[in-house]
Amino acid sequence: MALEFSERIRRIASYPAAGGYAQNVPAVRLASNESPYPPLAEVREAIESALSTLNRYPDPSNSILRARLSDRYGVPVPRIAIGNGSCDILLAAGEALLEPGAEIVHAWPSFSVYPHLSAASGARAVTVPLDGDERHDLEAMLSEVTVATRLAIVCNPNNPTSTAVPLADIASFVGEVPPHVCVIVDEAYCEFNLLEDPDASIELLDSHPNLVLLRTFSKVHGLCGLRVGFALCGSEDLPRALDQVRQPFFCNALAQAAAAEALAHQDAVIDRVTRTVAERISVDERLRALGIEPADSQANFCWFHLSEDRDEQEVMSGLQERGVLVRGGTALGGEGALRVTYGTPEENERFLQALAEVL
Ligand SMILES: Cc1ncc(COP(=O)(O)O)c(C=O)c1O
Repeated sequence: MALEFSERIRRIASYPAAGGYAQNVPAVRLASNESPYPPLAEVREAIESALSTLNRYPDPSNSILRARLSDRYGVPVPRIAIGNGSCDILLAAGEALLEPGAEIVHAWPSFSVYPHLSAASGARAVTVPLDGDERHDLEAMLSEVTVATRLAIVCNPNNPTSTAVPLADIASFVGEVPPHVCVIVDEAYCEFNLLEDPDASIELLDSHPNLVLLRTFSKVHGLCGLRVGFALCGSEDLPRALDQVRQPFFCNALAQAAAAEALAHQDAVIDRVTRTVAERISVDERLRALGIEPADSQANFCWFHLSEDRDEQEVMSGLQERGVLVRGGTALGGEGALRVTYGTPEENERFLQALAEVL
């Protein structure tokens, strides 16, 4: 007899993970918006020194990491939440805030984990199309907020379209949203956003207890293999609720040690951002020379639509045959588009050459 699953399992779509992880063949991996740069030597040392105490459970309150985050960002420790990746915080926030009858508002196409929150909870998802420049349409999102809304998510810069909205627009959005609605601004890629200082949004927390800035060590810090993210919150309420719905030791000891050390190396963050932005400018120029118009990227990846006579799957397969892995837009809500992470100069060269051949 087949297993009888819960109703919600029928609603939850499987996460569209990128392929290639099980292969041993060296490939140019530009499909998951990872950092092409390996963890810093000091971060590796911190991981090594944490190895000898792996017979103990990790610190359940992530105290060293939260204290370092508090020093770095000027947000009090009780208003900082840690997660097993920032996805863990998103899913726990969905569990804490949503239920049948409640509503969640988010843009689409946006990060593929957001639809999971409504599916898992039975809440109604209100998805708002991006504007003509593939940016969040915050006015349209605001008009969808009702008494039933519990959560609104703004992904800035947006995955998969790479675009960002100015902080002033986010500030007015948060200023208009009623205080019972939790607003998560997902800033996984904020360090790569040159529209403004990535830390400028933190000031908004002081005047908006319902605001949450979601960040991660997976992207600019290059630690996605360890799974650690954090949320800077406008009040202590959400961190407390997240801990109620999660297992106690959600962030492992190596991840805590690595993330705490990574924070001490802001010079490396600046260096990586500089290198990524240089690649962003050069790859986008070369794409334009191929007749492709990429979206205005403020992230570590680009997003572009193929011409109508091109088949997304065929282009992806052509790139894969040449050892280059990218993401197809269909799985991400944008049929006929490709999302490509900026890699090292050598990786980008291989991608551009392969693309020119395929097209
Ligand atoms: C917009 C956005 N938010 C959150 C995440 C999750 O990051 P992690 O769970 O690795 O911290 C990603 C990962 O790709 C992302 O693109």
